Amino acid sequence: MKILKKILIVALALALAALAFTSCGKKGTTLDDVKKSGQLVVATSPDFPPFEDLGNGEGSVDGVVGIDVDIFKIIAEKLGVKLVIKSMDFDAVLAGISAAKYDIGAAGISKDPDRAKNMLFSDPYCSASQVIVVKEGSSISGKADLAGKKISVQTGTTAENLCMSAGYSVSAFASNNDAQAALTTGKVDAWVIDDLTAGEMVAKYNAENTDSLVILKEALSADESYAFIASFGSESLVAEINKILAGMIDDGTIESIFAKYDAPYFAPEK
Ligand code: ARG
Repeated sequence: MKILKKILIVALALALAALAFTSCGKKGTTLDDVKKSGQLVVATSPDFPPFEDLGNGEGSVDGVVGIDVDIFKIIAEKLGVKLVIKSMDFDAVLAGISAAKYDIGAAGISKDPDRAKNMLFSDPYCSASQVIVVKEGSSISGKADLAGKKISVQTGTTAENLCMSAGYSVSAFASNNDAQAALTTGKVDAWVIDDLTAGEMVAKYNAENTDSLVILKEALSADESYAFIASFGSESLVAEINKILAGMIDDGTIESIFAKYDAPYFAPEK
């Protein structure tokens, strides 16, 4: 009888513990977890050159190339683990990190106080601005002309937030390539996107087509900085990445990675 009671109590305690465990949600991976598993899983959205793009050439990891990949190849090496890159839409990178599905998000992600309610941010590694892209000959020549115009953006980005809060008429696309196509096919009047990616995608488009896109001189905003994201619970991992990153900024490694992609490097403001 006594034994039966004990078994019942233990069974009840176990059931309660299991319930508590599943209902409190998944926690982020710690530095120890990463070292034990032997791999660092980085989520990205490979539609954002020069930070990440599809590619199987030299230096690619899991079919992705770019600045963020090169930075994490070095970080993974310093941690002594294998780098695994998972590709998805940009908004899935943010959602996946909030849900602790991946170790790190690296996707030209702008540090943002609203995002920081759901995830951790590393120290910044560069600064960026949001620019306005139009077709050559467009009547839009600056911010002031955007009122009442249709604008394409990538879903979940700071460009989307910026344009929504300015009250513009916004069309959001899961893929950045589709946001660009909306402009080139005349479905929208302007495309808002980060400066370096705009530079690269516009140059490529103009080289391959008879019509041209133009990046307006007046930026929509110029106060963003990129950082990596991780889930709550990954504080030790982020602290270690910050240490490695600081060394890579100080010794010029980050700048030389940008140079490899012919991209100008703007140091983060901190
Ligand atoms: N910097 C912008 C943001 O954080 C856009 C990033 C888009 N990144 C990408 N890999 N598509 O919202």
